[in-house]
Amino acid sequence: MKDRIRECFKEKYGYDEGVSFYFAPGRVNLIGEHTDYNGGHVFPCALSIGTYAAAAKRDDDRLRFFSMNFADRGIFESSVKDLSYSEEAGWTNYPRGVMWAFEGRGLKIPCGLDIVIYGNIPNGSGLSSSASLEVLTGFMLRDLFGFDVDNKELALIGQYSENKYNGMNCGIMDQFASAMGKKDNAIFLDTATLEYEYAPVVLDGMKIVVTNSKVKHSLVDSAYNERRSSCEKALSELQSVLPIKTLGDLSEEEFEKNKDLIKDKDRQKKAKHAVYENQRTIKAYNALKSGDIVLFGKLMNESHVSLRDDYDVSCKEIDVLVSEAWKVEGVMGSRITGGGFGGCTVSIVKDGAVEEFKARLAKAYKEQFDMEPEFYVVSVGDGPGKL
Ligand code: GLA
Repeated sequence: MKDRIRECFKEKYGYDEGVSFYFAPGRVNLIGEHTDYNGGHVFPCALSIGTYAAAAKRDDDRLRFFSMNFADRGIFESSVKDLSYSEEAGWTNYPRGVMWAFEGRGLKIPCGLDIVIYGNIPNGSGLSSSASLEVLTGFMLRDLFGFDVDNKELALIGQYSENKYNGMNCGIMDQFASAMGKKDNAIFLDTATLEYEYAPVVLDGMKIVVTNSKVKHSLVDSAYNERRSSCEKALSELQSVLPIKTLGDLSEEEFEKNKDLIKDKDRQKKAKHAVYENQRTIKAYNALKSGDIVLFGKLMNESHVSLRDDYDVSCKEIDVLVSEAWKVEGVMGSRITGGGFGGCTVSIVKDGAVEEFKARLAKAYKEQFDMEPEFYVVSVGDGPGKL
């Protein structure tokens, strides 16, 4: 990979001395969806696929970007003196947003850079290609300029830039999973405190299979932001009586006792998901720790039902992939993963059932939507690194 990127760097910029190489992973979330902006728990892991960069400092203030994934768009040029958001900057608004966020913290980028990016996360699949690009940029800036920020802060800077620069009101899960990833471990993160624990993903005789629906429905960002506002409203209604800081503070029983404080039925359903999903995630973490994959899988399935029926972030394509998966003997659990409205499902499948799983889902998907899903048997990888 490094050689391919080096070659591209040389071809685009005419030199390859003084170039450094970096990687930051994408993520898949095992369980704990739409809980990260509700003070709940999430349970993602970093993937061995992600985003790569080659970068070299310049003597002036020019910034040059080239993406091997968007080669037809050519080199985008700007300057470290002007890091303001611009439509025409396209995908470079992600790394430029991170630079802008560093400067906002008083960490000035002292000179320009030549950068080549390459990502092997399928585009738009919901496996956090943008978070990996943000974490990658932060990691690279820290290495090149010696900034004193730890990986947790890299995650927060990435999230901040996505919220305030790119206008997507995401939680902390994706950037945290990318920045703090650990090979063969999932990260059990309390998003209210940012305390976390690693849990070894021990799946004897089973695989984590990610299935890409290859659909991405429009208005995803606004639908996401709307759900976030509904949860905030529901929280403030509950707070009129309860001394809670977040929906993650509630048990299922406390929610049931107090849910009528939430005046709108739809909002009640959204809050219910946030509360129950958080509790499911805690149970799933304990199940994984004690090796109870049957229970883990059951909780994954319940998570899907809640995301489909209460939180309303699934879609017909994903529902077919999940319900077909449930029919395969040897599938421990299957659910939508990530923000929703398309993207991927995550399933835990016994080794001997993987082929049947793929065949069955592909057949149903072809019959119903005339499309072919993609399957990735994934491995859990480390956080960012210098290559
Ligand atoms: C997107 C966001 C995350 C999280 C998930 C849903 O991936 O970026 O912060 O909210 O959706 O769990």
